[in-house]
Amino acid sequence: MKKIGLFWGSTSGNTEIAVEFIEEYLSDEGFEVDSHNVADADPEAMLNYDNLIIGCPTWNIGELQDDWDSIFMDFEQLNFDGKTAAFFGCGDAVGYADNFLDAIGMLSKTFMEKGGKLIGRCKRDDYDFRDSIALDGDELLGLGLDYDNEEEKCEDQMVAWLKNIMSEFK
Ligand SMILES: Cc1cc2nc3c(=O)[nH]c(=O)nc-3n(C[C@H](O)[C@H](O)[C@H](O)COP(=O)(O)O)c2cc1C
Repeated sequence: MKKIGLFWGSTSGNTEIAVEFIEEYLSDEGFEVDSHNVADADPEAMLNYDNLIIGCPTWNIGELQDDWDSIFMDFEQLNFDGKTAAFFGCGDAVGYADNFLDAIGMLSKTFMEKGGKLIGRCKRDDYDFRDSIALDGDELLGLGLDYDNEEEKCEDQMVAWLKNIMSEFK
């Protein structure tokens, strides 16, 4: 059975809702998923997994969610050689169109700089925003979920993304 470490943070509960859906979907697909709220997790625990899913909403105009912010300096020190990760994040493309999903960009770029293999990019065209640190050409470096404006789309977006990343995990 493929094992995945799912590390996430959530301030107002949207990411937590997504995490519950992702966990259930992947366990139905035969994966073993260990879920860690980073409010209580040691960042080094990420190194116990070859397969990672990282969830972080963007807060405070282009900042990491608070619990991620607290561990970011430790996260930056980790060596992700040999690790595969997919990133997702909640954001608000209407209220924060110039900083939509910035947190995905901050975490995923650091992960790649430290040797990790990124999976789970998404098309920019599926969203309507102006700018993001998570942009790489016409792609986003992870899955964006906009519960504030397009909640009805979120489950379908997660399913499409999960189908895409599942086969990439070792
Ligand atoms: C004060 C404030 C600042 C925010 N800043 C951003 C932002 O810069 N970029 C963005 O995409 N979303 C931003 N958001 C929207 C949140 O990311 C969004 O509500 C998200 O679903 C929260 O996730 P959580 O419930 O898991 O904490 C902000 C929301 C608030 C209330």
